[in-house]
Amino acid sequence: MATVDLTSLRLKYRSEKDKFLEENISVKEPFHLFKSWLAEACETPEILEPNAFCLSTVSKDGLPSARFVLMKGVEADGITFFTNYGSRKAQEIESNKNVAATFYWLPLRRQVRIEGIASKVSREVSEEYFHQRPRASQIGAAASPQSQPIPSRDYLDKIESELKEKLGPDGVVPLPNWGGYIIRPNLFEFWQGQTNRLHDRIIFRLPKPDDDKHLVHNGENGWVYERQAP
Ligand SMILES: Cc1cc2nc3c(=O)[nH]c(=O)nc-3n(C[C@H](O)[C@H](O)[C@H](O)COP(=O)(O)O)c2cc1C
Repeated sequence: MATVDLTSLRLKYRSEKDKFLEENISVKEPFHLFKSWLAEACETPEILEPNAFCLSTVSKDGLPSARFVLMKGVEADGITFFTNYGSRKAQEIESNKNVAATFYWLPLRRQVRIEGIASKVSREVSEEYFHQRPRASQIGAAASPQSQPIPSRDYLDKIESELKEKLGPDGVVPLPNWGGYIIRPNLFEFWQGQTNRLHDRIIFRLPKPDDDKHLVHNGENGWVYERQAP
């Protein structure tokens, strides 16, 4: 069996980044900053899926689970993704709406952590997005009982073929138990990696009554921000 020596791993991307300073944040509002970092990630050719994020949910028993999903939109009040409403993540969101979304953009040495409340988008939004997808993906989503145990790969292929046959070449794929969620953030952390281990971390969050006015600053649109030690 192959062995992996993690101690010999060396980071490929060691480009110097300017310090990430409060005075360089032009609008002290996290959606604005998130969109500007996302735009830079989208312009970085090495980042193949800048919209991929790790979605963390918590079961009703308090056990965490995490997986990657693709962000499909940044709205005025949240970020959206789409999934199967019968999946494990959907069941966990049903019992606990608190979720976390973590982006990592390696060549830029940036991490963004979002914490917030997830809720389903309207059926119309899900329907519209579902039918914009390539037909093969629609059929794939409809054929897959996501997160359920299945006997084999053949079983999945069989469900897909049966569905294709039933719909014919042009039949509209009905929306399965599938749709979007919007995560409305109450916290964003912007992390900029530095080479000397003294990374920059700036957190935007909703204010708390006991906030220390020397350390917590007023941002825009009701957000406050603070720097945390790396
Ligand atoms: C890069 C990447 C993007 C993914 N995007 C999605 C997505 O947008 N929606 C989705 O349901 N699953 C997506 N998946 C699959 C999920 O990671 C996961 O396997 C699936 O949703 C089942 O998770 P659950 O059983 O925890 O609900 C993606 C996986 C990867 C690696």
